[in-house]
Amino acid sequence: MRGEDDMRQIIAINGAWNGIVHRYRQFLPITDSTPIVTLCEGNTPLIRAHAIEKLLGHSLQVYLKYEGTNPTGSFKDRGMTVAVSKALERGHKAGICASTGNTSASAAAYCARANIKCIIIVPEGRVALGKLSQALAHGALLCSIKGGFDEALNIVRQICDSENVALLNSLNPERLEGQKTAAFEICDVLSGAPDFHIMPVGNAGNITSHWMGYKEYFRHGFISNLPIMIGVQAAGAAPLVLGHPVENPETIATAIRIGNPARWKEAIEARDESGGTIVAVTDDEIIAAYQLLAQKEGLFVEPAGAASIAGLLRLYTEGYFEQALSKRSSRNGDGKPVAVCVLTGHGLKDPQVAMRLARLPESLPPDRDAVMSFIKLNLREQIS
Ligand code: F0G
Repeated sequence: MRGEDDMRQIIAINGAWNGIVHRYRQFLPITDSTPIVTLCEGNTPLIRAHAIEKLLGHSLQVYLKYEGTNPTGSFKDRGMTVAVSKALERGHKAGICASTGNTSASAAAYCARANIKCIIIVPEGRVALGKLSQALAHGALLCSIKGGFDEALNIVRQICDSENVALLNSLNPERLEGQKTAAFEICDVLSGAPDFHIMPVGNAGNITSHWMGYKEYFRHGFISNLPIMIGVQAAGAAPLVLGHPVENPETIATAIRIGNPARWKEAIEARDESGGTIVAVTDDEIIAAYQLLAQKEGLFVEPAGAASIAGLLRLYTEGYFEQALSKRSSRNGDGKPVAVCVLTGHGLKDPQVAMRLARLPESLPPDRDAVMSFIKLNLREQIS
């Protein structure tokens, strides 16, 4: 039985919003005996992207689903609240995951809240600083391997075969159940599905879950159309685009540095059932999108999150959207098709990328004139 304490925990925090389980319980594998482990995740903003719309010649309405505002700074929290709640229900004393960083940060936080141990297996030297510091701060046991994510996930599978620890990767279907709520939120805010849903793809759990979410809302009659699903991979880690695993994946977007996605089949199904596509974008395109988001939209995302926008811009220049819509009409009232781009993780996750891309100024003498001449030198007439 769910204790009174648990009820209080869910309802007392944050006023109206008490997390995705509280909001979407009827769609989730939650029972009366599931102790809900929540940090009030979800309810992330859907932000209109005016600067990007201008770049696209106002041909699309573009919305950004900013998942960086989740409690640990990425979309993983939606899946983790469900997976860790179920682990607790089953009496697990520990959870385990392989990760490029965000899953480990989220697992560590939710396991801490559930008071169970968390074991994380990560590629040595390839996890962004923000993510690693989160996992360590939450007290996870860090196992750093001399290998990539794909090898780390294989080790997790083997350990879960023999040990009684909860699997917290998106191989666990409960993770996907939680993550599908992003699609619900988008439909709730837009009062319908977008024409295009664009998102980065690494291990392919998230695209699988969002497609599940849209289909579920469609089945219930909450939406009358399904979106075209567009996945974006980094060119150096694009197995789904190439059609074969990539031995040594490489990209600045370390979150999606994955050569053999566990949800390969499901991602291809999402693409094909929705009539969508999966594209590869270069690291340069990712960086350009990252800077565009930060400097023109005011949104700081990690490189993997910016991949959605890199994909949007690439497909726009290729005339993809017109072509896709010529096959079926837009369902949006004023005729302008709607694209939702998912920004999966916060920019603070990977401060080193931001610092590498920025130009660090020299130190100035501590007086007004020195500072003012520096400002004028850099901004000239732009400030008056
Ligand atoms: N964006 C970010 C910021 C991610 O951290 C990930 C995955 C993805 C996109 C891709 O999602 O794997 O479901 O296709 N990160 C995992 C991790 C692999 O370990 O944190 P996916």
